[in-house]
Amino acid sequence: MTDLGDGTRCVRAGLPEPAPGDPFLPGPVLAAPYHLDPWQGPAASPNGYGRPDNPTRRLLEAAVGELEGGECRVFASGQAAITGVLLALLRPGDTVLLPSDGYFPVRSFATDVLGTMGVRVVFVPTAGPYPSLDGVRLVLVETPANPGLDVVDVAVLAEQAHAAGALLAVDNTTATPLGQRPLDLGADLVVASGTKALTGHSDLLLGYLASRNTELVEAVTLWRTTTGSVPGAFDAWLAHRSLATLDLRLARQSANAAAVADLLAARADVSGLRWPGRPDDPAYAVASAQMRRMPGVLSFDLGDADRVSRFVEAARLVAAATSFGGLHTTADRRAQWGDDTSPGFVRLSCGVEDTPDLVADIAAALDAAGEA
Ligand SMILES: Cc1ncc(COP(=O)(O)O)c(C=O)c1O
Repeated sequence: MTDLGDGTRCVRAGLPEPAPGDPFLPGPVLAAPYHLDPWQGPAASPNGYGRPDNPTRRLLEAAVGELEGGECRVFASGQAAITGVLLALLRPGDTVLLPSDGYFPVRSFATDVLGTMGVRVVFVPTAGPYPSLDGVRLVLVETPANPGLDVVDVAVLAEQAHAAGALLAVDNTTATPLGQRPLDLGADLVVASGTKALTGHSDLLLGYLASRNTELVEAVTLWRTTTGSVPGAFDAWLAHRSLATLDLRLARQSANAAAVADLLAARADVSGLRWPGRPDDPAYAVASAQMRRMPGVLSFDLGDADRVSRFVEAARLVAAATSFGGLHTTADRRAQWGDDTSPGFVRLSCGVEDTPDLVADIAAALDAAGEA
C-alpha cells in the first residue's frame, strides 16, 4: 500500500479482507484460553493462550507494521516496549548509548536496572556530538526528543552504527510513522509509545516495536511472551480504531503547532521556543529533510512555575495534563515530574481544536498570566 496516500493507508491499515456480513474492523476477542483441538492441541490453531496469541492484537500489529514498514509487536505501554527491547537485546558487558535529553524514565531505568546488570550506559545529547560507536551494541535515539525536541539525522547515525557493528533503535513516539519512517532511513528497530499521537484519544496505554530483522523480532517476541507485557484485547481494538484517523489528527495538530509557534515567537514574554517545523529552529534543517510531517508538540519557557500555573489556569482550551499527541491541547510543566528542565519549561501538545480558537485562547491566557 506504499503507493497510497497517508489517509488512505491509515483507514485501511491492518483490516482483514472484506467478507459479506463481517464488520470492517472485527470487535475485540476477549479470551484467555481458546478451545484446543483435542488431538493436535495448540498446533491446530494460531490461538492457544491469550498471552502469546490474540487475533485483535495481531490485526493492530499488522496495521502499525504496515505504517512503519516492518514487522510489529505491540506492548502494554511504551515503557514496556522500550525496556523489553533493552532487556531482550543487552547482556552484561554490552555498551548502550541513550539520549541524555529524552524521556527521563528510560534514563532512570538504564541507570537503575541496566547499570546494575553490568551493562555500560552512555548518555549522549540527541543533537550530538556522538562518540565513537566502536564496541557499542545498541544506540537508542529519540527524534524529535521529548521534551526538548532536538533531532538527529537517522540515516547518518545508522551508517555510523552499522560500520561499528552496532544496532540503531529509534523512538518514533513524537513523529509517529506518518511523521517519519526510521526503518526506511536505515534504523534496525523502531520503538514507540502508542499512547501518544498514534492513538491520540488519551484513553489507553500502548507501546510497540517494529523491525525488518526477523531475529530481533523473534528475540523481543519471546521476551514479551515470557514477561507477559501484552496489551489487553479491548485496548488493542480501541487503538486500531483510533489509528484510522491518524492522518486527520496529525494534520490539524501540526497546523495548530505552526500557528501557536508563530504566536509564541512574536511574544517578548516567551523564551526558548522549540518546534522543529520553524525555519529558525536549530533542528529544522535535519527535521525538514528526514521528516514527512512536523509534530503537534512544541516547548517553551515562561520563566517560573507560578507563571506556568497562571497561564494554564487562565486558558480555556489548554488542559493541565501530561502525555501528548491527544485530541485536546495540553500543557505540562515538565519539572514537576522530576524531568531535568527549568522550572518554567512547558511542553505544549496541540490538539485538534480550531486553529483561530486555540491561538486566541493561548494569547489571552499569556496576557492574563502576566510577567514571570
Ligand atoms: C518519547 C517517549 N518514549 C516512551 C514513552 C513511554 O511511553 P508510555 O507512557 O506509553 O509507557 C514516552 C512517554 O511519555 C515518551 O514520551
